[in-house]
Amino acid sequence: MTREQIRSYLEFYRDLGIDSIYRRSDALATCPAKPDVALPDLAPKVDGLDQIRLDIGDCKRCRLSEKRTNIVFGSGNETAKLVFVGEGPGADEDEQGLPFVGRAGQLLTQMIDNTAAKEGIPITRAEVYICNVVKCRPPENRTPQPDEMEICGQFLYRQLMTIRPKAICALGSTAMKALLNSKEGITRLRGKWHKWRDIPVMITYHPSYLLRQYNQTARREAWEDLKALLHFVYD
Ligand code: URA
Repeated sequence: MTREQIRSYLEFYRDLGIDSIYRRSDALATCPAKPDVALPDLAPKVDGLDQIRLDIGDCKRCRLSEKRTNIVFGSGNETAKLVFVGEGPGADEDEQGLPFVGRAGQLLTQMIDNTAAKEGIPITRAEVYICNVVKCRPPENRTPQPDEMEICGQFLYRQLMTIRPKAICALGSTAMKALLNSKEGITRLRGKWHKWRDIPVMITYHPSYLLRQYNQTARREAWEDLKALLHFVYD
């Protein structure tokens, strides 16, 4: 790595509010842009959601900034016991600056509210926190690329470390890859408990995928995943 590259990495981390850097022996420390590696464990000692939003600023750290209208940071209860992580903003979210407000968001809201009501769990969407792996809309809603996930993943890492929920729900395979760094398909991993750091993670289908499914199997499975998740967090 050249001195110039080292300088730009250090500036990048300083922008994130990180003032001490140590070297790890694994590939992540030496190759931040390595595909398949997401959410590097870097955060300032004292952190908070307002600070993270401030550090993001008018972000130009990756190409997703070029076409975005708004940065979609996250919304909901900042002391939530449950955090949902999606992939990245769509057109409606980009316009409003809020996560999951379009069609997929409406389905997610219904799923949370209706499952909780049916199961006698007194929560609604307002009780949870919702954010995405990348905070700017990928053009044409394409899947975020590994370097975009890695750059923005720093902020997701800090959001999760700050909120420290009782559980995380990864919606779809981009969130699954960011949190678990797994190469497995979502159909194998959904519906089971995994861990991000010491926090239990439930993987389930992304609501956009459920909107495209004409057979009921995936929808039924997603409802089952959510039921298990809500009981685990709120019983
Ligand atoms: N899809 C996502 O992954 N996130 C959103 O915020 C909206 C749609």
